[in-house]
Amino acid sequence: MDFKEIVQRRRSIRRFTEQPVDEQQLNTILRAALMSPTGHSARGWQFVVVGERDTLDQLAATKSAGADFLKEAPVAVVVAYDATASDVWVEDASIAAVTMQYQATELGLGSCWSQIRLRTDADGHSASEAVKSLLSLPETWEVECIIAFGYPAIERKMQDESRLAWQQVIKK
Ligand SMILES: Cc1cc2nc3c(=O)[nH]c(=O)nc-3n(C[C@H](O)[C@H](O)[C@H](O)COP(=O)(O)O)c2cc1C
Repeated sequence: MDFKEIVQRRRSIRRFTEQPVDEQQLNTILRAALMSPTGHSARGWQFVVVGERDTLDQLAATKSAGADFLKEAPVAVVVAYDATASDVWVEDASIAAVTMQYQATELGLGSCWSQIRLRTDADGHSASEAVKSLLSLPETWEVECIIAFGYPAIERKMQDESRLAWQQVIKK
């Protein structure tokens, strides 16, 4: 699969089979994240791999909506960042997250992003603080998102070339 096809095939997958993601695949995904670009080459990300069912279920409850798929995912990576290391940590963390998603697509795996930064649970408590507390992460770390990975239990159509918003591209 060339990169052009990977980009077209990547869709958010929120239903997963029970088939585990093996260690080698996971390491390939994390390798991609660790090769992603960062401002001033700060590389301040922290990737916390969670494969324990109970912890994944608890992570799903850290925000009021948009994280239920973690209850079905065999594994997820919490994308955190030592915010003291960079003023552009949000960008660095986001680029690493999406790089993992493209790598997962190439491996035939599905993935979905669950936003944590700026989100709250059903009672209005910070999702980020809840994730940090659950995983005992240091105070200086910020949490951008959680990316779930697994084998897709549903098939999603690849991106429709004919529906791209080319009108939003301005060439001057
Ligand atoms: C910054 C960002 C935050 C997102 N947050 C969530 C989320 O909290 N829950 C969720 O189910 N999907 C989330 N998504 C996935 C989007 O809903 C999805 O990418 C979008 O609907 C387009 O669909 P596609 O990924 O299949 O092309 C997020 C994606 C991005 C880039």
